Amino acid sequence: MFGYRSNVPKVSLTTERLTIRLANERDAYRLADYYTENRDFLKPWEPVRDQSYCYPSGWQVRLNTIGELHKQGLAYYFLLLDLEDNEVIGVVNFSNVLRGDFHACFLGYSLGQKWQGQGLMYEALRPALRYMLNQQRMHRIMANYMPHNLRSGNLLVRLGFEREGYAKDYLRIDGHWQDHVLMALTNSDWKPAI
Ligand SMILES: CC(C)(COP(=O)(O)OP(=O)(O)OC[C@H]1O[C@@H](n2cnc3c(N)ncnc32)[C@H](O)[C@@H]1OP(=O)(O)O)[C@@H](O)C(=O)NCCC(=O)NCCS
Repeated sequence: MFGYRSNVPKVSLTTERLTIRLANERDAYRLADYYTENRDFLKPWEPVRDQSYCYPSGWQVRLNTIGELHKQGLAYYFLLLDLEDNEVIGVVNFSNVLRGDFHACFLGYSLGQKWQGQGLMYEALRPALRYMLNQQRMHRIMANYMPHNLRSGNLLVRLGFEREGYAKDYLRIDGHWQDHVLMALTNSDWKPAI
């Protein structure tokens, strides 16, 4: 549709090993490959994903919705790709973006099995968080993890997130309500738009 794409923010961040950019409608095959390859690995750490996560047609539908959310500034779905922009290495999403007197959102992420333990999520999240704090002017970014997800907890602490609480039966992961540690990163330098 005329004018549609011009309203979608064009965000592409480059690090030493990664391209980090917003997902777009041409990513259906890449995302289906990522979720097919990592289906078993991600299962214990994520809500139940239906079969459509493994099919480009399922992603085509989802990416239309994601594009609309990007356009309206309600969520930002980033892909972590190799520097040639081919393979999805992981995903980072900032969802439920609220502004006004809250200016806050939730962070979620995952990394493919073969990319674990190389510092790649830390490398990606540093510029992605900077973008959300500086360009989208978030005051608070919230991220929560199951107590036994030590890798996720360590990552958040290293990024400067602080523990704010503990929620019983907080989120349904792999079909079961699971307790979560509640973490947040707040921006003490936040200033209202001029
Ligand atoms: C959570 C998750 C993203 C963390 O991945 P990760 O690779 O450990 O992330 P990091 O970028 O923080 O890398 C840190 C690891 O890389 C190692 N590393 C290797 N080279 C490194 C480098 N150059 N710089 C930093 N760390 C490096 C670190 O020692 C550490 O490994 P360790 O935990 O064995 O000590 C990943 O485990 C995952 O996708 N899990 C499944 C989904 C999930 O849990 N999502 C979050 C739900 S809350």
